[in-house]
Amino acid sequence: MKKIFQLLCLLCVAGQAYSQEQNQIASTTDVETAAAPVTRQIAIIPEPVSLVRNTGVFVLPKKVIIQADKSTSVKPALDYLQLHLSIPTGSFVTAHTDATAETIRFVLNPQANPALGKEGYQLSVTPKLITIKANTGAGLFYGVQSLLQLFPKEIASKELVEGVKWTLPCVEITDYPKLAWRGLMFDVARHFFTKNEVKQYIDAMVKYKYNLLHLHLTDDEGWRLEIKGLPKLTEVGAWRVKKEGNFGDFTPPTPNEPKDYGGFYTQDDIKEIIQYAKDRYVDIMPEIDVPGHSLAAIASYPELSCTPGAEKYQVRSGEKIMDWSRGAPPIALVDNTLCPANEKVYAFLDTVLTQVAALFPFEYIHLGGDEAPINFWQKNDAIKALMQREGMKKIEEVQGYFERRVKTIVESKGKKFIGWDEILEGGLAPNATVMSWRGEKGGIEAAKQKHNVIMTPTTYVYLDYSQTKKEDSVTIGGYIPLKKVYNYEPIPAELNADEHKYVLGAQANLWTEYVKNDRKLEYMIFPRMTALSEVLWSKKELKNWDDFQPRLKTQLKRFDLWNINYSKADWKVEEEAAKTTN
Ligand code: ACM
Repeated sequence: MKKIFQLLCLLCVAGQAYSQEQNQIASTTDVETAAAPVTRQIAIIPEPVSLVRNTGVFVLPKKVIIQADKSTSVKPALDYLQLHLSIPTGSFVTAHTDATAETIRFVLNPQANPALGKEGYQLSVTPKLITIKANTGAGLFYGVQSLLQLFPKEIASKELVEGVKWTLPCVEITDYPKLAWRGLMFDVARHFFTKNEVKQYIDAMVKYKYNLLHLHLTDDEGWRLEIKGLPKLTEVGAWRVKKEGNFGDFTPPTPNEPKDYGGFYTQDDIKEIIQYAKDRYVDIMPEIDVPGHSLAAIASYPELSCTPGAEKYQVRSGEKIMDWSRGAPPIALVDNTLCPANEKVYAFLDTVLTQVAALFPFEYIHLGGDEAPINFWQKNDAIKALMQREGMKKIEEVQGYFERRVKTIVESKGKKFIGWDEILEGGLAPNATVMSWRGEKGGIEAAKQKHNVIMTPTTYVYLDYSQTKKEDSVTIGGYIPLKKVYNYEPIPAELNADEHKYVLGAQANLWTEYVKNDRKLEYMIFPRMTALSEVLWSKKELKNWDDFQPRLKTQLKRFDLWNINYSKADWKVEEEAAKTTN
């Protein structure tokens, strides 16, 4: 334990100078609090449950002492605050367990305050002292996020900023989330994003109190996770031919074109990302998308397909796989499914899921299940024999059979099974959780059947959709402006009060067919993810679009300091930024 605190004191002064400094801090604070009051608006996103602004200001001294409990659960909040305070302000920030003249106090409630739950906090700013109280380390961490948003915008700088008066308005905040599952999905399969880019995504999430990163690790264009004993998944499946142009539009590659576009995460990379996320109270849910969207796996191990000749997909680009021109369900132009009639497929998935379960501590594994085409199954003898053996009458039942088999494997690894809402179609297996993406219908139906649900409808939270009608780069289409996201309500009116509990929460999805790099990624998620954070965290009664807009305007300048390429579609940014002093 002592070691932890020594580490936290990277910026520490020698202990002997300590009591002398305390007096200086107190007197500096006294003098400066008499200074000008803070006139800027308080603009926390997501909006806290209760915020009372008091008179007076807190002025950050040059030497900041954080008093914190010895518990390891305070460490993430403490580390985060030390780093984010000391760099821009240049203040000397130290942590102690036994300080008597502290400037910031972290309190883990000795007896849980039931109003705060597992993630809530109370934040008090008075002229002499900042106090964050919570039942858990997560609560302290979220208190720190709100505290940083009370500082002048320059707190967002990654460098020392001179000449800023680091004053805070005095406030009393009590805050806790509305929903337990506050997620963002990141498709790292269509285009590969590096370990550091994933960490940056997590950095963005935590500022707005998200707690769940759904990593879409496999798809037709790439398999991104090292699986020991199945080396071709990453030797073959992780790489494709790079084609410039619009996704799905270009001519298929030729056999001798170089397959050097892609990448994958080693198991050590994944462990590092999981630890990074854990230190910021973000769980990571892995998705292995089967039986459709599996061309990268099939290219690696062609025997997993029902359709002969799959070897040729070792050379893939991003060519068209589905024909949606006749509507849903689409006609597959390429059989990108794992073969439900082949026992080797279940042995393959057992190997994959054993390792996925061991790597990812999160309780759920997502097994996809979306958009699995049936037109190749319809003409396959092995599938016909399977249907006869299992007494299946309709081809649609084949996916239900597959999902039940896969769910058994997931559960045998001690994990819970979740899939996209297509898993409802073949009859929902007991305890399966549904991720409702084709609107809210699937989620409503599953909750009525007493199944847990995560809402993520294309109509509100697909962040690959355009956010203006005049995008200057190509997107997948659709139109979801900021206000539409803000107005989303994840608990559908069709559910009665008893059924609400089945909606664990909601998430937005960033599919990356048209997102090739982190600048485009930032453009697609900012600022819409800030609007969604309020949907997920803040009570419905507190949501107010007119109030949100000015708060977001103050955040735009922070985005600039973080060097975020946010979409300006909803803002006349130059004019607005000039008016904002925050
Ligand atoms: C999905 O958007 N295909 C889940």
